[in-house]
Amino acid sequence: MDVTFVTSNPGKLAEVRRIFRPYGIQVGWSQQELPEPQAERLEDVVRAKLAAAARAGSGVVVEDSGMFVRALGGFPGVYSRYVLDTIGLDGVLRLAHGRSRAVQFRAVAGYRRGRTELYATGTVQGTLATRPRGANGLGYDPIFVPTGERRTFAQMDPAAKDARSHRGRAMRSLARKIRALEGT
Ligand code: IMP
Repeated sequence: MDVTFVTSNPGKLAEVRRIFRPYGIQVGWSQQELPEPQAERLEDVVRAKLAAAARAGSGVVVEDSGMFVRALGGFPGVYSRYVLDTIGLDGVLRLAHGRSRAVQFRAVAGYRRGRTELYATGTVQGTLATRPRGANGLGYDPIFVPTGERRTFAQMDPAAKDARSHRGRAMRSLARKIRALEGT
């Protein structure tokens, strides 16, 4: 079966294609930046993205994610992209300097076919690295070390990241729900 992932981010597209493949779901790409409301919860952003994505057709997938630093009250959270684009990885590490390094990544994924909507969430706990390491992945991957690992996500091969990541968890859960809805 086919779905369309609406995102402007080719890195996310590559991950979702890989994660959906074992479920027999082919992922087309609608390359567009969906309007994001000023919201405090990823769930609210995804609901708005799904409504806006309806124009991309039926069987659409959207996703929103963020990194939440516990010692910074969950910042940058829903502002993760803005913060990365402005102060960058070094700026985030400076803000976190001298504080507890516990951090969580969260992804919320949504699917819409006709009037039916499905949602799934994935989280991964970890710590902030003291400096960026590795060249794989996207965004904050060079400074995110998942719990139980020494390597950052950017130092792992793609399959190792998918097995542990917030997106891997959210998208595997969404893929199972899509298959159940569509009768396999
Ligand atoms: P958004 O979901 O596109 O709003 O992404 C929020 C921010 O988090 C962007 O700056 C992304 O680069 C970053 N981000 C999203 N997913 C990941 C990930 O899997 N690893 C590291 N950074 C990510």
